[in-house]
Amino acid sequence: MKNLLAPAELSFAVTKNDSARSVEEREAILADPGFGTNFTDHMVDICWSEWGGWHRPRVQPYGPIALDPAAAVLHYGQEIFEGMKAYRHADGSIWTFRPEANAERMQRSARRLALPELPTDYFIESLRQLVAVDGDWVPSAPETSLYLRPFMFAKEAFLGVRPAKKVNYYVIASPAGAYFTGGVAPVAIWLSTEYARAGRGGTGAAKTGGNYASSLLAQAEATERGCAQVLFLDSVEGKYVEELGGMNVVLVYKDGTLVTPLSDSILEGITRDSILQLAEDRGLTVERRRVSIDEWREGVASGDIVEMFACGTAAVVTPIAVVKAEDFEIGSADAAAGDLTMSLRQELTDIQYGRLPDRHGWLTRLDG
Ligand SMILES: Cc1ncc(COP(=O)(O)O)c(C=O)c1O
Repeated sequence: MKNLLAPAELSFAVTKNDSARSVEEREAILADPGFGTNFTDHMVDICWSEWGGWHRPRVQPYGPIALDPAAAVLHYGQEIFEGMKAYRHADGSIWTFRPEANAERMQRSARRLALPELPTDYFIESLRQLVAVDGDWVPSAPETSLYLRPFMFAKEAFLGVRPAKKVNYYVIASPAGAYFTGGVAPVAIWLSTEYARAGRGGTGAAKTGGNYASSLLAQAEATERGCAQVLFLDSVEGKYVEELGGMNVVLVYKDGTLVTPLSDSILEGITRDSILQLAEDRGLTVERRRVSIDEWREGVASGDIVEMFACGTAAVVTPIAVVKAEDFEIGSADAAAGDLTMSLRQELTDIQYGRLPDRHGWLTRLDG
């Protein structure tokens, strides 16, 4: 994408946090970071206005954002975000995975939500700037990372319904522990037939808060039924598999073919794309096509479908043991993780953590 900004505008003003946590406090958090509850000492903030474009890039102390009560985001939800990770390699260096893909997805989300597009070089530089001040927050224990959350929202104080003329982009970061502490465990998922996540022509393919807000009730139902995630079907026929509340779905057939739903209302996951590339590299066939819940159900019953998994940045790859619906189940709760599922997961994490060569050029160094 064309960057209309002069290179000088990529220079960030850095204000260090006088109340940054001590080394001891930080180490205590990194020893058991959990997910999404602890944040680093700084954040990135870049302003945009209709008349001034992107301007005033800053790294500043992490802290509350002052918002006018009439800020458009609070009323009309004009907001988008991304989710990615910084990984510490064995030599101490810090890397991230396919940041151009996140930048481009954020630009697609921006177009859909009538927000300004942040150029890819600005996006990647914003991550580098945050890691330059908060790099010590990238943990080093196995499968841990620093979760990076770029986001953008309508800050203009105006109650008219139209695209905001003032927007801010931020990046915050949160150390993340290993998703599965006792080894990767297959999960149960709940098939929601009452609620849809996204509608035709809607915002399903964008990473915007409203999609998650509309998944929460269905997710609560899933939790009540002892399921880890909710599975959504298409909103038109209620027949075709879309995705989970926060992950994409892949089915493995007994001939080694991997099938993933094709739909213009699901979020195009970067983990899924990478896993499918690794499968193709192994000579396996990958199909992106419509998949009905009946095909899934019959395929598992007949033994045609031998493995099923979910994938996304947070948990990488999660084997699915069982899909529970109101009046049927696909698979069984005690099913073991599939071999292909686990070996693709291993290969991807080995690349991310620098244990295998990065043959696709997926890694970008963030420090140094
Ligand atoms: C709804 C949804 N689908 C799919 C994904 C997977 O996307 P990615 O692999 O880029 O993390 C996510 C985020 O993790 C998500 O929130």
